[in-house]
Amino acid sequence: MRRVAVLISGSGSNMVSLVAAMQADKAADPVLVLSNRPDAGGLAKAAAFGVPTAVVDHTAFADRAAFEGAVHAELVAAKADLVCLAGFMRILGEDFTRLWEGRMLNIHPSLLPKYKGLNTHARAIAAGDEQAGCSVHEVTAELDDGPVLGQARLAIRPDDTPDTLAARILPLEHRLYPAVLRRVVAGDRSPVVIQG
Ligand code: GAR
Repeated sequence: MRRVAVLISGSGSNMVSLVAAMQADKAADPVLVLSNRPDAGGLAKAAAFGVPTAVVDHTAFADRAAFEGAVHAELVAAKADLVCLAGFMRILGEDFTRLWEGRMLNIHPSLLPKYKGLNTHARAIAAGDEQAGCSVHEVTAELDDGPVLGQARLAIRPDDTPDTLAARILPLEHRLYPAVLRRVVAGDRSPVVIQG
């Protein structure tokens, strides 16, 4: 069974959807939830699911390479063979991404390749886009750039704000990420498509 680590920085709602799906399907084993922030709300949620947790506080390291070395050591200690970034808000360097290339996924709140980086929903609204959504992709050295493994989309309403859009897209994220993980652990990397 694939051993999956989930990396978070915040509330961890995507992590919960992944862990719940893994525990229900029994097709993958959630072996570690790691946060770079000691105060991440997701840590208690992971513990409530009985998943081991770890904190690697990026502020305690001299540079990114040292931080990533410590994260890598935790992943190796947990014998993880797949890593899911789920609201993990640190940019990862080339050495680390190379180590996990093909074995690390991320969820990003835009219809990639549009709107890499931050403030994705505000940028979609400002551009006058008809649709917004989220993407799960393989992580490569380029930010938010690896092969897309699935997308969920919905229509932007005339009165949408970045907050209302985020609130409507988050439940789609919670459907999309487990669906992609299911396919990946089954050896299928064809894209998942969800229309909200
Ligand atoms: C999610 O909307 C996720 O797509 C986004 O952060 C949120 C985390 O929520 N990720 C990024 O912006 C990555 N660049 P969660 O902690 O409740 O899963």
